[in-house]
Amino acid sequence: MGVTANSNVVFALNGERVELKDVDPQTSLLNYIRNETDFKGAKRGCGEGGCGSCVVLLSKYDPESKGVEEFTINSCLSPVCSVHGCAVTTTEGLKQGKDPHAVHTRLAGFHATQCGFCTPGIAVSIAASLRKCSRKAKDEGETALPTSVEAETFIAGNICRCTGYRPILDVCKSFASNVDIEDLGINTFWESSEDAKSKKSSLKPCQPVKDSEFPSFLKNYTGEFLQISSVQSGEERVWKSANTLPQLFDIYQRESEEKTRDVHFVVGNTSSGIYKDFRPSVYVDINNIPELQCLVKTDSALEVGAAVSLSKLIDTLEDIGGPIFSQLAEHLKKVASEHVRNRASVGGNLIMTQKRGFASDVATILLGAGSRVTVTTANDSTVIDLEDFLAGPCPQTSILQSVQIPSWVQFSKKGSERLLFQTYRSSPRLSGNAVSSINAAFLALVQISAPNCSEPGSEMLQLRLAFGALGSPHPIRAEKTEKYLSGKIICVDVLREALRILREEISSSAKDDKFHTAEYRASVGVGYLFQFLKALITETNMDIPPPSSSMSGVDDGPSENGAHTCANGNGAMMNGGAAKESGVRSFGRNGHEIDKRKSFMGKQSFPVSNEFYPVAQPAGKIGAVLQATGEAVFVDDIPLPQGTLHAAFVPSSKALAKITAVDVSDALASPGAASFISVKDIPRNGQNVGNILTMTDSSDKVFAEDTVGFVGHPLGVMVADTYEHAVQAAAKVKVEYDESTLGQPILTVEDAAAKNSFKITKLASLGCASVGDALQKGDYRIENAEVYAGGQYHFYLEPQTTLAVPDEDDCITVYSSNQSPESLQFVLGLALGIPLHNIRVITRRLGGAFGGKTHKSQLVAVACALAAFKLKKPVRMTLDRNTDMEYCGGRHESKARYTVEFNKDGKITALDTYVLMNGGFEDAYMDVLGILLVNSMKCYNWNTWRHVSKVCRTNIPGRGMMRAPANIQGNFFAESIIEHVASFLGLDPTSVREVNLHTHDSIKRFYGPIAAGSEEYFTLPKVWQRLKDSSDFETRKLSVEEFNHKHMWVKRGISIMSIVYPNFCGTRLARVTIYADASVVVESGGTEMGQGLFTKVRQAVAYALCRLWGQNGAGGQVPLSKIRVVQNDTVSLANAGNTFGGTTSEGTCEAVLNACNTLVDTLRPVLLESQTEGPESPSWEAVVRKAKARNLPLSAQGQHSKHGLQTAYIVCGAAVSEVEVDVLTGGVSILQADLIYDAGKSINPAVDIGQVEGSFVQGIGYYVTEEVKWDENGVLITNGTWTYKPPTTDNIPHQFNVELLNSAADPNHILSAKGAGEPPVLLATSVHNAIRQAIRAARADVHHLPPTAADRRDSKVEKGSGASHFVMDSSATMETVKKLCGFYNVDHYMEWLSRSKS
Ligand SMILES: Cc1cc2nc3c(=O)[nH]c(=O)nc-3n(C[C@H](O)[C@H](O)[C@H](O)COP(=O)(O)OP(=O)(O)OC[C@H]3O[C@@H](n4cnc5c(N)ncnc54)[C@H](O)[C@@H]3O)c2cc1C
Ligand code: FES
Ligand code: FES
Repeated sequence: MGVTANSNVVFALNGERVELKDVDPQTSLLNYIRNETDFKGAKRGCGEGGCGSCVVLLSKYDPESKGVEEFTINSCLSPVCSVHGCAVTTTEGLKQGKDPHAVHTRLAGFHATQCGFCTPGIAVSIAASLRKCSRKAKDEGETALPTSVEAETFIAGNICRCTGYRPILDVCKSFASNVDIEDLGINTFWESSEDAKSKKSSLKPCQPVKDSEFPSFLKNYTGEFLQISSVQSGEERVWKSANTLPQLFDIYQRESEEKTRDVHFVVGNTSSGIYKDFRPSVYVDINNIPELQCLVKTDSALEVGAAVSLSKLIDTLEDIGGPIFSQLAEHLKKVASEHVRNRASVGGNLIMTQKRGFASDVATILLGAGSRVTVTTANDSTVIDLEDFLAGPCPQTSILQSVQIPSWVQFSKKGSERLLFQTYRSSPRLSGNAVSSINAAFLALVQISAPNCSEPGSEMLQLRLAFGALGSPHPIRAEKTEKYLSGKIICVDVLREALRILREEISSSAKDDKFHTAEYRASVGVGYLFQFLKALITETNMDIPPPSSSMSGVDDGPSENGAHTCANGNGAMMNGGAAKESGVRSFGRNGHEIDKRKSFMGKQSFPVSNEFYPVAQPAGKIGAVLQATGEAVFVDDIPLPQGTLHAAFVPSSKALAKITAVDVSDALASPGAASFISVKDIPRNGQNVGNILTMTDSSDKVFAEDTVGFVGHPLGVMVADTYEHAVQAAAKVKVEYDESTLGQPILTVEDAAAKNSFKITKLASLGCASVGDALQKGDYRIENAEVYAGGQYHFYLEPQTTLAVPDEDDCITVYSSNQSPESLQFVLGLALGIPLHNIRVITRRLGGAFGGKTHKSQLVAVACALAAFKLKKPVRMTLDRNTDMEYCGGRHESKARYTVEFNKDGKITALDTYVLMNGGFEDAYMDVLGILLVNSMKCYNWNTWRHVSKVCRTNIPGRGMMRAPANIQGNFFAESIIEHVASFLGLDPTSVREVNLHTHDSIKRFYGPIAAGSEEYFTLPKVWQRLKDSSDFETRKLSVEEFNHKHMWVKRGISIMSIVYPNFCGTRLARVTIYADASVVVESGGTEMGQGLFTKVRQAVAYALCRLWGQNGAGGQVPLSKIRVVQNDTVSLANAGNTFGGTTSEGTCEAVLNACNTLVDTLRPVLLESQTEGPESPSWEAVVRKAKARNLPLSAQGQHSKHGLQTAYIVCGAAVSEVEVDVLTGGVSILQADLIYDAGKSINPAVDIGQVEGSFVQGIGYYVTEEVKWDENGVLITNGTWTYKPPTTDNIPHQFNVELLNSAADPNHILSAKGAGEPPVLLATSVHNAIRQAIRAARADVHHLPPTAADRRDSKVEKGSGASHFVMDSSATMETVKKLCGFYNVDHYMEWLSRSKS
């Protein structure tokens, strides 16, 4: 063997040698880096492999080739022991000396960071991909640059919740060989075609990779035998690397038999992202065993060692090629993410499938390809079919040695025989990072009929049909269907019968689970086989819809008057005010010529104005480079004071119960446990309060007292020396509950209504005297229709986090990722029972918030502070992703019932709405939700409207504010009503929208004269007409119709809609201070969470201080670099307000303008005096120097809303979305989105475009991919990245055009600007509407076919309305869309074909 054993783990971290003695084998690389080193770039976003924020680059030396292999890994899944002998590079290590890497500067220059929490992981992902291209080029003599399509895949394994991805994709593509910078989006490297050349040169290139960079000292450790035995809290934990099979069995036997403990073979350890509770005590690393790493190709098969990574397998399969291997490689590229695949082994996947019933793709496709496996014990090896292996179990002491994948080449070459191999997977993300809801692999050997043969189709000679992810224990073969088809000529009738058999077969194996029904799985499986075999049928073209002449008497319109057509638009819409300046700047490409499904394009347009220079310039974001290099400090990155303890919640496991006993004795005996803090530990003068909303004077308790109201309700916090120990101890707290007296928990709004469980009721009426009054009659009436709007989780990438540090004399400093420092300070005062001057809350930056870091983060901070206060020790509390999701609420689910009256042109005469909102258990926002919903539902001119909404108290965690809170639900209800009226009348929904669009008069009536402002600045009509024109809506609508006539199984939909959104800007405070060196510091109450507040405020300060030289600053300047905006600190700037509503930036700008006015007034006499002293106007520095010498006050405070500017106003926008729906699976692609948004005179267009794009994509998540689900016991089942799917690059529009309207400069607004943070979320309702249109087209085809009983069950068809109406709740997940398209549409089609043939 000749290898030495080492008990120390040795590796390089960012070039520096690390040697770890006595390391705990359970320690992940991420935990080591974050807890034990100064590098904080790798972030913990999920801890389960799903977000990519922890990605690092791993380099390994290969002694045989003497080369270096490099790839990215998720450091959260990798044990630190597994990097022995490797070099690890975090984003900090990408820097070249002190200089940032080219990827860092481009992320900043393309405005591709907002909160910046995802950015380090993204930087490493991009840099690593570029290095891979560079290595490939060296090996193969190709270009070192990727193509743009390749570049777009660089971040497929990373989630960014803020940006909407467009700018990050631009960064990736900026490195591509076939992209010009003019094709890319808004950036600081290039501004106009004139200076393209000079600006382009400021793009820093990426340095080529050199193997010599690999630390030479590590070469000695390659392939070394690692043997670690570490005693942790009394338990021995072992890591051993086995280098041969005998060694492995030897270790296995000794460890498992002698000591009766868990022995875990480890390859990539990626299974730890799924089975997080499994923490073995013995790890046997099997990576270095040659038999398990083999890749041997013979004439008939490829033998793949079980420890071969999926990435290596993909490369090999691609190199060999052929129908089977190429398709396998294509499919494998969609398994997990590249970061996971680089480590995940084939064998690990098959074992997880066999032992744990994992919903594997790998097992299904290898089964479909007819693979066999070698299973080895200490004494022998056996080769068995994969099918038998999966059915398991194998001998206890066996190991999976290898997989043999047949190439089937001998069959693919014979005369007219054809080998067909195809694989399928359904998942919300096309390029992976989401397990499939069903997958399949089909292999067929067919005899193609000769052209002059009398047989009309091909003969099936051999067939394998494998299906997986069925909710059942392992993939299966559909043997009955295989048997039926074998030997048959494939024709319509044969296919029809095969599909019937298959449906039965899948239905008997598939199971309903918490996420998908067996019926859905069976319908998609049937669709897969239909797709596979239809090409073999020569009788008919099965892609074309049936002719509408075969319709079975379906009438899409109303029975009475039958108004089926309408004139489009109402013409005179152009009444927006004229802009002072006409300059408009555009970046990016419209890309009409590109294949929208293959590549991504974006275009951004915005007005330019120098009126308030440097305000309105697309200045780069403050701190963006620091975010990319990982040097930006988030709360969890703050170095811990000595002796810091860690806290974890002790959550309730019941949704509604009395607490009868809490026993913490076992928990306190747990390793590292320090204390249990509960309601009993609240100080004598303190209160059990965790947050407070002063606006409504409502609050929540921090800890449960004698009852619990939801699963996850904190009974207290467990405090220990590490977070892991705190979690382990918390799990040992024994709680006894009595569920017999409080009744059944209430989980839904229906339950709440039945039990009269309401927190608050809100009434509204318009156009009628009161809610009880009669409404104005229309020609038609839809009565008591219902629609449901789902919930949404914030998914800020940085989980809730606090560090509380107690100080002398009952003082405390709390560092919190919180968007309401002032409120937090106040509530800490109540909870701790100390005066506010004892409490200092500091917030530097948040890793995203979206409203989620208001009241729930206060609860976390208070719990943490109570522990710190009691124990007199610093305490950190950072929630893990699952706890964060379970506890922190989100957008509330709502259900609307409506009755609507309307005329035949779609003009609504009256609307009556009744909305139930699921407010959850806690109370903080009980009243606000109702108010916001009322405002949002006024978005169309309903003429007369009465409304009742009720916030229900239920036994789920309290819901809260999330970006455009209650507004998106209200907007969705309004749009659903419009769609319903349109389908009832058989009208185009666009025309119904247009007749109900607000005029300035109706806006005044609905929102009041103050919010409506002057008619000159009412931009809705202008926005609407401009978007119709610029998006070419009418022409594209015709193209969509034409497309749908030609395609049966893929349908398109297009929709245009507008928004009116009431914005409100509360009081803001700021202080501006000038130092002796003329640098300026700005403090405010606004927290920076990625929305660009600091960047905008700095521009406003620069503009305002320039007014020292006169109104337009002519004659002098205060450079942006002189101005620093600093973290919130409630002691330094007291009573400074909170951050919410998307209007803090503008309010804070107004506050700093006012502060600067005071400073300018102070400085002006000094300037005037200096100007008399010579011809040159004195510099900023000179003026400040003089003022300081005279002891003039150089600090001033300012407040917003001093000058009577409009604090409540309406913002308008509009969107056109075009989508494509896969009728066989329910998958949705967004082909194009065109948005126009009126941000007034945007303070920073780059920031605002980022807000518009990011909001829109978050809205796409709400409507398409994100679904919040509880089980019947009130347990959140969508509690992590495995089950909850925020959008990735797969879900964004392929063509994404955003325009900031060149609107008139409204002097009633701060710097003539309007907020852009929240309203654009609503524009994503257009995506939902477009999906509805596509489904409508799909259903029209099925309506042309004979309906069956099963078809009738497919969806909720509204009674008494037009037959084309169907209820479509949010969100339109794949299963929902498929269900609405028809679970049985293929069967009907086949039936129709069969009948029409005979
Ligand atoms: C975020 C994420 C997304 C994913 N998405 C998908 C997906 O879409 N489709 C899909 O198919 N998979 C998916 N996976 C699963 C992934 O493919 C597996 O986690 C991976 O293949 C397991 O390999 P590993 O080397 O990391 O196994 P490990 O975690 O090291 O081991 C897994 C198990 O197998 C045992 N084991 C490993 N090798 C052997 C052997 N040779 N003999 C006996 N026992 C062995 C181990 O003891 C352990 O119990 C995903 C994983 C993650 C983390
Ligand atoms: S923290 Fe590792 S992938 Fe999310
Ligand atoms: S910038 Fe990507 S998550 Fe915030």
